Amino acid sequence: MIIDGKKISDIIKQEIAEEVKQIVSSGNRPPHLVAVLVGHDGASETYVAHKIRACEQCGFKSTLLRFESNIDEAELLNAIYGLNKDSEVDGFIVQLPLPDQIDEQKIIEAIDYKKDVDGFHPINVGRMSIGLPCFKSATPAGIMMLLERYNIKTEGKRCAVLGRSNIVGKPVATLMIQKAYPGNSTVTICHSATKDIKDICIDSDIIISAVGIPQFVTADMVKDGAVIIDVGTTRIKDDTRKNGYRLVGDVDFENVKDKCSFITPVPGGVGPMTIVSLMRNTLLAATHAIY
Ligand code: GUN
Repeated sequence: MIIDGKKISDIIKQEIAEEVKQIVSSGNRPPHLVAVLVGHDGASETYVAHKIRACEQCGFKSTLLRFESNIDEAELLNAIYGLNKDSEVDGFIVQLPLPDQIDEQKIIEAIDYKKDVDGFHPINVGRMSIGLPCFKSATPAGIMMLLERYNIKTEGKRCAVLGRSNIVGKPVATLMIQKAYPGNSTVTICHSATKDIKDICIDSDIIISAVGIPQFVTADMVKDGAVIIDVGTTRIKDDTRKNGYRLVGDVDFENVKDKCSFITPVPGGVGPMTIVSLMRNTLLAATHAIY
C-alpha cells in the first residue's frame, strides 16, 4: 500500500485549524510561527514557502524573516535573541543549511528551547532521548504520525535506519526504540562506514532511509512485506518540469513497491508530514502544552 502523506497531512492540518478556531473564539490570538531564511537556496526557499502556506491553512500567523547570505553570525544571533524575547512569537525556526561563515550549532543553541519548534536544541534532543515531554524533531515526529495513522505494527520489529544525521537518522532511531507506540522496535542505524547494509536491510521489517542518494535502496535489499519509509529528497534536473527539477527519494520505488506492505512515495510521503509536525509543535508552543 502506498502511504498517502499528503492526505494524512491535510487531515491533521484540518484538526489543527479546528483547535485554532477555538483558541481564537475564546479571545486569544492565533499561534505565531516565525521562519528565518538566510540567502536564497532553492530548496530552502521551497521548504519555507510550504511552511508559510501551511500556517495559513492552520489559521496561524506567520512571519518570514529574511537575511542576505553574507550576514555575519553576530547579527543573526541578535535576531534570534530578539525572537526569544518577543512574547508575540510562539515558536521559530532557522532554515538550514546556513552559509559557511555561520556556526550552525551555535545558532541552534541560541534558540530558546521553549520556542524551538524544530526540536533541534540539545535540551529538546536530550529530553526526547529520555522520553520527557519536548518538541520532537519535525521529520521523525511526522514519520511516527504516519506509522500511527496507518496502524503499522512496530513492536518487536527489526528496523533499519539508514543515515545518522542529527535531524533525521539519530532522532528517528531514538523514537523507534522508545517503549511506546509507534516504537518498541529493535533498531540498527546504518551509515557510511557500515558494512553489509544490504544484509541488515533484508533482515529488517521496517526500513527508514535518510541518506539522500537516489536509488540507494533497491528491491534486492527489501524483505517481502517490509515497511519502507523514504526520507530522501534529492533534486534531479528535469527540463520537462516547470521548475526545472523533480524530487526523488532514496528508494527504487518502481521495483520496491510491489514487494513491500507499505511504502511512502517521494514527493507526497514524509515531506508533507514534516511540515505538519512543525505546525503541531507551534500549536503546542502557543498553548504551553509542553513548557
Ligand atoms: N533543512 C532541512 N530540513 C529542515 C528542517 O526540518 N528544519 C530546518 N530549520 N531546516 C531544515
